Amino acid sequence: MTFTIAIDGPAAAGKGTISKAVAAHFGFAHLDTGLLYRAVGAKTLRGTDPIEAAKSLTAEDMVGDLRTPEVAQAASKVAVIAEVRAALVAFQRSFAARDGGAVLDGRDIGTVICPDAPVKLFVTASAEVRAERRFLELSQKGLPDTREQVLADVITRDERDRERSEAPLKPATDAVIIDTSDLSIEAAVAKAIAQIDARR
Ligand code: CDP
Repeated sequence: MTFTIAIDGPAAAGKGTISKAVAAHFGFAHLDTGLLYRAVGAKTLRGTDPIEAAKSLTAEDMVGDLRTPEVAQAASKVAVIAEVRAALVAFQRSFAARDGGAVLDGRDIGTVICPDAPVKLFVTASAEVRAERRFLELSQKGLPDTREQVLADVITRDERDRERSEAPLKPATDAVIIDTSDLSIEAAVAKAIAQIDARR
């Protein structure tokens, strides 16, 4: 059985948390596609050409801490390059088509990677709420970024992601929007599961 759940949305909206919980609930595999772009971005910070980095990406590139603000910015810079995106399409589509069900989260899953996915969710929240969540995540890891820096980072990345010509961040026309600004994690996950149950 194949069944793809596409979860998109802006930076730090809670896609990862919801995706993991939904995948665990239904016994599906989960792919955080942001990590692919982060791995390419991290390689460019070490001097590799972004298109070469995307074409030669391996599992080894995914180890280490990719969830830093520097790598996030590098990821959104390489993510505007059409050839970088193209190099990552086949892997994402084959993951989506795996037997047993798959949850993919990112920016363009419902619009470009899996436009026929039976469930498309667009998870969002206000920039301030998203920045506060990311600030807590980073400060728990001991990273020194201030609230103001994290908010600026989120806003810059969202703008770059929304305004690019290749696969810009936007909800698919048939996506269900889940605004998590005033929702607990449990409530957001319950909303996502209810949407999926309605379509299975
Ligand atoms: O976790 P967070 O929401 O902060 O970011 P992420 O999902 O790890 O994605 C990092 C960056 O990769 C984004 O800002 C996008 O520029 C890019 N990305 C993308 O272009 N397409 C995707 N499907 C996933 C991520």
